Amino acid sequence: MPHTLEWSRAYTHRLSPSDAEHLKVKAVSLAKRLAKETSAGELPFLTMPYRSRLEKEMPPLLPRVRACKHMLVLGIGGSALGARAMQQAFASGQDGPGHAGPWLWIADNVCAERFEALLSKLNPADTMVVCISKSGGTIETLSQYFLVRAWLQASMGEAWPEHMIVVTDIAKGYLREEAGRHNLASLDVPDYLGGRYSALSAVGLLPAAFLGIDWQALLDGAASVAQPLAQTPESLADHPSFALACWARALEEHAYNQLIFFCYIPQWAAYGDWFAQLWAESLGKEGQGTQPVPATGVTDQHSINQMFLSGPRNKGCLFLTSDGQDPGRSFGMDLPDKWSWLKGKPFGSLLEAEAVGTRMALCKNGVPLLHVRMADNGPQAAGALMMLLEAATVFTGWLMDINPLDQPAVELGKRLANARLGAQGYTQEEKDLADYLAVPKEEQTF
Ligand code: PA5
Repeated sequence: MPHTLEWSRAYTHRLSPSDAEHLKVKAVSLAKRLAKETSAGELPFLTMPYRSRLEKEMPPLLPRVRACKHMLVLGIGGSALGARAMQQAFASGQDGPGHAGPWLWIADNVCAERFEALLSKLNPADTMVVCISKSGGTIETLSQYFLVRAWLQASMGEAWPEHMIVVTDIAKGYLREEAGRHNLASLDVPDYLGGRYSALSAVGLLPAAFLGIDWQALLDGAASVAQPLAQTPESLADHPSFALACWARALEEHAYNQLIFFCYIPQWAAYGDWFAQLWAESLGKEGQGTQPVPATGVTDQHSINQMFLSGPRNKGCLFLTSDGQDPGRSFGMDLPDKWSWLKGKPFGSLLEAEAVGTRMALCKNGVPLLHVRMADNGPQAAGALMMLLEAATVFTGWLMDINPLDQPAVELGKRLANARLGAQGYTQEEKDLADYLAVPKEEQTF
């Protein structure tokens, strides 16, 4: 069974199909760009030239990795969110009762308290640390690397490199130098594969493989969506990712500046954060873009859904369901009369019914909605969805005339933080920071 995009409620309210016509005609020139960039190797998330190397280099590492009960991932942003989404979707055992391992811990913050809680409880001898950074120089990740390296060294002395793997650029960056210096096992993040497009490389797949997730199926699913684009770029106009991009851009042009990612596959909820980062960092440029709003069905029906339904009419919605949800156990026939309509029904019928109800309510309340209907919810389906969304993000960026692969705006905060920490070479930032902090405070206590 194929996965489907259901369009009947997508061009509604302030949006009509004709609003996307001027975007769809751009398919011809964008197809040429796609052909050029794929053949120049500039879109490796799509062409996946790294797959054969990964298939060769990762499996030999797995026995050593799986010999440990714990994996501690150090990474942030695109170097963390894909792994977390896959863990939650396909190996969420450690959040439930009776789990006997393996355990994956993703340290994607600089919370000293949480970090101490991890290091004080984990046994270094039973932990494989995986330090993931494409640039090899991200301060949040590197600072954790230094602390964890000392933690490993303190416990196992010169043998510490056996418990560390790095995933980083093939040639550049501090982490790559560290790998060389200490003879650390390493896997590559290929050229042009930016963080938020890298979940289906070693970045996300090494943690996935540790958890026993079928990482080849994730790649197969992604390849099935990418293949027509990579092999026949001239068919761009017919590809669902391009249709999605045209819709997303048309939404923005009609003052829908928020895009809800409403996930009615509850175990896939963490894909909401993965998508939000992909979409926001790729498309928030030059005063443009739509704010991604991740939400989970049915939980958020009792939370932010009120705002979706009755707040500003500025939202479109990607509404995600799966036909393969486990229906679960059924209600007994002895329910009280008041609830008799549930007798014999499977618990899963609630999710289906509430998804229909919420979809219709959104449609009736001014929210253009594209229903992404997955045939099932296995790793192959997830790989297909990830590729669809990554490709759609890039094409939306092209339609906006911005670069969806960079993130220049976030650099300022990083430079100022470096200046604050006393790093060399930030004279102007130090001065700017001093000016900023010199502004008299207007404080109110509570
Ligand atoms: O998507 C991106 O490019 C970013 O979110 C990065 O993943 C994040 O900044 C971490 O970068 P790096 O992998 O270089 O440490």
